[in-house]
Amino acid sequence: EKGNYRHFMQKEIFEQPRAVSDTIKPYMNFETGKVVLPYATFLEEVFKDVSRIVFTACGTSYHAALVGKYMFESMLRIPCNVELASEFRYRDPILDGKTLVVGISQSGETADTKGAISLARDAGCPTCSIVNVVGSSLARMTDAVIYTHAGPEIGVASTKAFTAQLAALALMVLYASCVRNAGETDLHLRFKEDLLRMPGLMEEILGSHEILQDWAMDIHHALSALYLGRHVLFPIALEGALKLKEISYIHAEGYAAGEMKHGPIALVDENLPVVCLMQHGVIGEKIRSNLQEVEARGGRVFLVADELAAQEAGLESKLSYIFKVPICHDLLSPLLFVLPMQLLAYYVAVERGTDVDQPRNLAKSVTVE
Ligand code: F6R
Repeated sequence: EKGNYRHFMQKEIFEQPRAVSDTIKPYMNFETGKVVLPYATFLEEVFKDVSRIVFTACGTSYHAALVGKYMFESMLRIPCNVELASEFRYRDPILDGKTLVVGISQSGETADTKGAISLARDAGCPTCSIVNVVGSSLARMTDAVIYTHAGPEIGVASTKAFTAQLAALALMVLYASCVRNAGETDLHLRFKEDLLRMPGLMEEILGSHEILQDWAMDIHHALSALYLGRHVLFPIALEGALKLKEISYIHAEGYAAGEMKHGPIALVDENLPVVCLMQHGVIGEKIRSNLQEVEARGGRVFLVADELAAQEAGLESKLSYIFKVPICHDLLSPLLFVLPMQLLAYYVAVERGTDVDQPRNLAKSVTVE
């Protein structure tokens, strides 16, 4: 039921603080401060001597996997690869028994992701899935399962399943750090504290949704849009572009901001909206120079920045479009930055009068190749 919402997608966007909180709570033992993964106890032995993690998925779930790589490599120094399931399964990848293969899927029924996991199993790899649908094929195929508790997702465009996947990945990081005796550093404690704060911070952002409604008024006539991000916000740029494409049918591309000069800058003119995602610190400064390049060519910048980044860059008075996001651990910032991406795509689609919950040519779960 949609309740007071006009679309399921809108309802699901606003449900995300709940989806994330429901995903975290059952897995946190608040007495010991440790993560427990009841359907993934198999991972305890695996994490002790894993040499590599391969994440595999499709679409939005693939973007969650990309964030997973940043989290695992940065927090645990375990090398990770992220693979589109449709590519991975057909290219005879190099695998061994010390490579953990993790499939991420909302439905648990995506044909290519299942194919990728079968391949990993045949190669003797330990496998794990992060899925939203209990008892789905993928959950049954893997040695370990971490369920996201987003609840049923009806809108074809994935929203709450994505943030719940990010939360599950963060929990997996905390679990692995504990197994590997790396869990008590300040870095890990801050990561855990911030994970627990996510639902509240997400709520704050959703409270400012009207700003994105205004942006949509100035974007909905565009023929194309560019999304730029760096580091852990690069996957969020990809996700922002995917959301816009799927439901508003405006062509959009997500790019690692550092690649701007290597091609996409040729597209910039006064008709091209450029959505920039910016964290504070060294990486944020790099984005600032990309942003100046866009402005110098008459491009329209729509900046989503954390509170410190906007201030540091002295941009607050200069730009017409700024959306501010609260500060948190940088590896968790995707959970926050993706919300304005979803809302913007949603409001643009509503403005264009498309069928938001059932975009043309798309199916909720892709059970054939
Ligand atoms: C995008 C979207 C799709 C799915 C993809 C994978 O909004 O919904 O890109 O993310 O089809 O689906 P699952 O996660 O069910 O494997």
